[in-house]
Amino acid sequence: MIYLIGFMGSGKSTIAKMLSEKTNYPYIEMDQAIEETEGMKIRDMFAGKGEQYFRDKETEFLKNLKNDVVLSTGGGVILREENRALMQEGTVVYLKAEWETIVERLTGDTDRPLWKGDDSEKKKRFDERLGLYEQAADVVIDVDHKTPEEITEELVERL
Ligand code: S3P
Repeated sequence: MIYLIGFMGSGKSTIAKMLSEKTNYPYIEMDQAIEETEGMKIRDMFAGKGEQYFRDKETEFLKNLKNDVVLSTGGGVILREENRALMQEGTVVYLKAEWETIVERLTGDTDRPLWKGDDSEKKKRFDERLGLYEQAADVVIDVDHKTPEEITEELVERL
């Protein structure tokens, strides 16, 4: 099992797809899988049922994951200790992006419920999570100023 972790906009989905092609492991987008099971968009889940409900679904998803896959996680998966522990049975890859890279990619994004508020609120969330990503990771890949192909290649070499 390969878990890709990192802040929103760090490129988890793109890299997971490319890695899946290279490794022949199937690829799963965790947010999408949760949306399908719940029959609801993530942003509606946050609005209607609250963040904790969504976090419960993330933990449930990790617990029920049976097959060997490349999993693109949601950026907040590392918030729960239980999730960090569950991911330890596989290889956890942290796609590490600078704040500037994230801002460049997510400016104008209205789909993500936790990409909201002013810059300092967003930056605070980013800063608060850095240590958790590091803590959970087996492999850390810097993604700034690299193409998805370069990142995937580096990752394959380091797995
Ligand atoms: C979240 C990130 C999102 C999604 C949800 C919460 C977060 O996934 O799971 O909106 O807490 O960082 P992406 O990292 O794919 O944007």
